[in-house]
Amino acid sequence: MNEPRYTKDAIDSLKSQRVIKSFELPKLKSNLSPFRYPGGKGKLSKFLAVFLASNDLKGTKFVEPFCGGAGGSLPLLEAGVISKLVLNDANPFIAEFWHAAINNTKVLSKEIRKVNVNLETWHKYKAIFEGSVDASDIEKALSVFFLNRTNRSGILHAGPIGGQAQNGEYLIDCRFNKDNLIERVENIAKFKRKTIVTNEDASSLVFKLKQSNCFIYADPPYVKEGKNIYKKYCFNDHQHTTFANAIKHQKNPWLISYDDAPLVHELYAKSGINVIELSYVMNKAKVGRELLIASSNLNMPNLNSQVENISDSFTLTKSIIAVNEN
Ligand SMILES: C[S@@+](CC[C@H](N)C(=O)[O-])C[C@H]1O[C@@H](n2cnc3c(N)ncnc32)[C@H](O)[C@@H]1O
Repeated sequence: MNEPRYTKDAIDSLKSQRVIKSFELPKLKSNLSPFRYPGGKGKLSKFLAVFLASNDLKGTKFVEPFCGGAGGSLPLLEAGVISKLVLNDANPFIAEFWHAAINNTKVLSKEIRKVNVNLETWHKYKAIFEGSVDASDIEKALSVFFLNRTNRSGILHAGPIGGQAQNGEYLIDCRFNKDNLIERVENIAKFKRKTIVTNEDASSLVFKLKQSNCFIYADPPYVKEGKNIYKKYCFNDHQHTTFANAIKHQKNPWLISYDDAPLVHELYAKSGINVIELSYVMNKAKVGRELLIASSNLNMPNLNSQVENISDSFTLTKSIIAVNEN
């Protein structure tokens, strides 16, 4: 098993304004997603922009089979680095939220404005999210959003911030700044013509993409922590394997982010796993290492020259990433 070749510092250097400029990329905003996701990819969007540019993929259609909060892709779409975005998530409530944000923005914003952020509402939305009561599509969209914003670490089946007694240091409404969240939701409406929302299993979606011309960025549930974070929408080993088979037989270029687990090395290492090291923070107590793995038809910006000379000496190295068993 190869060791990751890229350290966090090197990745950070790739995101510098100097590098962004050298690829003639526009300024990218972060924090466009209305969701909070453990390991959310808002911070990865600058890297993704450089990665796409260095592979002549500016303007591509960008597919996120596990979109969650779409933290990495929204800034790319907003800045015009990608031309179209496909947001897919198997969780129907998440798909419903994106659908409402794009197609029913005014109603969704109005409901967010009206909502009382307290325990009573939390119980109401928990019941909707768990399917124990009937609800309209907008209520379903709101339920996943409300729980994401009011639960500990944004985990949909966790308890509310501040606990049921609401006696913690932080309380249920501490991450629910309505003005800011409504602004983010309304911003999404701008992408109506450029975004498609689907609610499918990621592997089925990827199998179907064979013919289309696109770039796939996959951020599957973590192997180790997935169960704790996504409960029903996590992957078992068989699902991780099925997804690996689907993606490795793709002609379209792809990039995956994963936690650094033995299964990931097993699934993607045959032609030599080539990875980038990132770190993610689950909570204060848990910091993990995350890997990026890409298809062999992609190149990584050369970091041999490291931080100082980076802007002038971007060349591409084939050897850095190559995982493709076709
Ligand atoms: C790691 S999160 C994605 C986070 C996202 N990149 C972000 O920045 O917010 C993984 C997502 O995959 C979804 N998911 C789980 N199983 C899935 C499947 N079989 N097909 C598609 N999506 C799935 C989960 O609902 C979750 O939203």
